[in-house]
Amino acid sequence: MHLTKQAIENTERVRRLNIINAITGIKPANLIGTIDEAGTTNLAIFSSIVHLGSNPAMLGFILRPQGEVRRHTYENLLANGEYTINHIQRSFIEQAHYTSAKFDKGVSEFAQCGLTEEYLPDFKAPFVKESNLKLGLRFLEEIPIKANNTTLVVGEIAHLIVPDEIVNEKGYINLEQLDGVGIGGLNNYYGLEQIGSFPYARVKEVPDFS
Ligand SMILES: Cc1cc2nc3c(=O)[nH]c(=O)nc-3n(C[C@H](O)[C@H](O)[C@H](O)COP(=O)(O)O)c2cc1C
Repeated sequence: MHLTKQAIENTERVRRLNIINAITGIKPANLIGTIDEAGTTNLAIFSSIVHLGSNPAMLGFILRPQGEVRRHTYENLLANGEYTINHIQRSFIEQAHYTSAKFDKGVSEFAQCGLTEEYLPDFKAPFVKESNLKLGLRFLEEIPIKANNTTLVVGEIAHLIVPDEIVNEKGYINLEQLDGVGIGGLNNYYGLEQIGSFPYARVKEVPDFS
């Protein structure tokens, strides 16, 4: 298959979105947890989480255009400045997937999708108890991407929770032991297998590949 820009535009909408959503390769699988002012929690799957820097520790994610559909995650994190990012594991991919359904405000995806809220004393947003890598974030800024009306939401990490045995002395987190998964497109889930680990790449230490 070879698609030009014109051919992409002429492709049927759902087939096009499936193709274009898949072409970046494996994406991280996370659930973002928030809470509104009335105390209703919200949980939604996001595959666009991106590392922005480690000092200060910052992450971003891409929010789809606001349009007619209200974005509860966005409204809640703006309202109280806090949200959680929770890795999805193999054991709950189906529950995690269905958090993407457009539930009404006032209905919590935690209850609807069979996932459990968990809290830290000094942090409002709910974590996902079933997840074994959880992050608590404070909202910093939003950057509009004018070309397609999406938004890059930027936050700093206030809490990082992961089992000790998964992190080695160097700080490597073993995603295979964590039972982590990756997402292809919007509907396909993959297991993770670690297949290599290499030192920091210095020019004088590059192996002879010729
Ligand atoms: C696998 C998958 C990945 C998704 N990734 C994103 C994403 O990165 N950004 C986004 O805005 N929506 C994403 N969505 C859609 C949201 O999960 C969906 O719109 C959800 O209803 C948003 O919930 P909210 O309105 O409660 O915030 C994704 C959906 C699926 C199934």
